[in-house]
Amino acid sequence: MKVKKIAVIGAGVSGLGAIKSCLEEGLEPVCFEKTNDIGGLWRYKHITENGNPGIYKSLTCNTSKEMTAFSDYPFPDHYPNYLHNSKLMEYLRMYASHFHLMEHIQFLSKVCSVKRHPDFSSSGKWDVVVETNGEQKTYAFDGIMICSGHYTEQYLPLSDFPGIKNFRGDYLHTWAYKNPDSFSGKRVVVVGIGNSGADVAGEISNVAEQVFLSTRRGAWIWNRVWDNGNPMDTILFTRYNRLIEKFLPTFMINKWAEDKLNARFNHANYGLQPKHRFLSHQSTLSDNLPNHIIAGRVLVKPNVKEFTETSAIFEDGTEEKVDVVIFATGYTFSFPFLESDPEILDSQNSRFKFVFPPQLEKPTLAFIGILQPIGATIPTSELQSRWVVRVFKGLQTLPPVSDMIADITRKRKKMEKEFVKSPRHVHRVQYIHYMDEIASELGVKPNLFSLFLWDMRLAKEIFFGPCTPYQYRLQGPGKWDGARQAILTQRERILKPLKTRVVEHPVPFSSSLPWAKSICVVFFLLVPVFVIILVMYN
Ligand SMILES: *[C@@H]1O[C@H](CO)[C@@H](O)[C@H](O)[C@H]1NC(C)=O
Repeated sequence: MKVKKIAVIGAGVSGLGAIKSCLEEGLEPVCFEKTNDIGGLWRYKHITENGNPGIYKSLTCNTSKEMTAFSDYPFPDHYPNYLHNSKLMEYLRMYASHFHLMEHIQFLSKVCSVKRHPDFSSSGKWDVVVETNGEQKTYAFDGIMICSGHYTEQYLPLSDFPGIKNFRGDYLHTWAYKNPDSFSGKRVVVVGIGNSGADVAGEISNVAEQVFLSTRRGAWIWNRVWDNGNPMDTILFTRYNRLIEKFLPTFMINKWAEDKLNARFNHANYGLQPKHRFLSHQSTLSDNLPNHIIAGRVLVKPNVKEFTETSAIFEDGTEEKVDVVIFATGYTFSFPFLESDPEILDSQNSRFKFVFPPQLEKPTLAFIGILQPIGATIPTSELQSRWVVRVFKGLQTLPPVSDMIADITRKRKKMEKEFVKSPRHVHRVQYIHYMDEIASELGVKPNLFSLFLWDMRLAKEIFFGPCTPYQYRLQGPGKWDGARQAILTQRERILKPLKTRVVEHPVPFSSSLPWAKSICVVFFLLVPVFVIILVMYN
């Protein structure tokens, strides 16, 4: 059979994983990247261009390295757990060079349109028009992987802020914010308390005269440094927790989480207490926000009702003179190259597992990384790609259209029930749950039951330890021989970067007591129950 040619659109984290997955399955990828380099969102540029994502100089990953890695390429052990954007770029370059991805990328090539080939219904082929150096060329492809990103455009609802047009100071979106230098001595209001809002307000407050952080609904704030100094996600995102979560009612999980976060600082006293419960809205990850608030450098305010020429008037009637407004109102994305195909474009909120538009006669177009996992994006996109290439090759089939639509509808209903209504919630998924779902399609979900019988040490780490991406390389297509070792050494890689001053009698970093306790319970008291649960869980 002829080798299939696949177009990968975008060379960000999702695009790189897509190219790699194509190569792994013997497909022939051509990646079109409109800028002159890889990395997408993660490549810091001092000037942000329209249509491209923009990040600030200090941006640091909100997921830790062991949870963020490509599944067969752990971060070097000395890398810090939470990576600055420049470090993540280093890793992406190493990944691209290790797997020889660069030679499959065509830079400064903008995809203008993706259209079904005239005989699409029998061949599943696509015509792709690409512009390079001002010249347009049409290519034929057997499959399309859209990896153009989820955070490419600023979401700036100016109409929600009466008077902003008459405001005489400056206003900008965090998309264009780079560093705090130009805010020295200014009075600044930051609108929005997502991750960027909290980061930017905090960092500017070190040099500004005063920062106001305006929030409509408040937020639960969690932090990277969790119990005993472990990276938060390595402690919370475990299969053990996921199992407990499954059996606990929602109100108990909310209570546990909110008590835990309030123990660090009381959200009501700090003016941050949201109207929503913990699980029903995105939480904000910020290590520093409470420090800036208690130091008075950041004052929390309600929503801005209107702007005057020189000030902001908040919904509680208070008025503050401000020089600059920074909108941290989030991001959106679009697919201009799909405009001629409204059917695919409109499939936005109804894709099978966020990947395949269900109604296409041939499953030869996929969206990669167009979702918001509560967890790391790199492994999520990568797993989607591994599944997609198997479908492209015909080694795996999708369910009938009606089943796919039923699945989509069921998920949407569930989401509407669980989350506060917001356009951005449409793409939210729980990390382990979603990973396992795709892994089951692909046949790479770790089989805990047999591991429990044959490789207890590994089974324990998989079940109690952080649900790291290497777990999805233990079996099935794309099996990686290093996966077991990568899992068994993950805790060493977490500790390694901290060992820059070695202490003589170290107290074990992760508290061993509750750990040992739960193991004892499982081993001596609950073995039968445990086995039954595992069987159900698989
Ligand atoms: C990390 O930040 C992104 C962008 O704000 C967000 O969508 C995601 O949920 C965050 N992840 C975690 C674990 O907080």
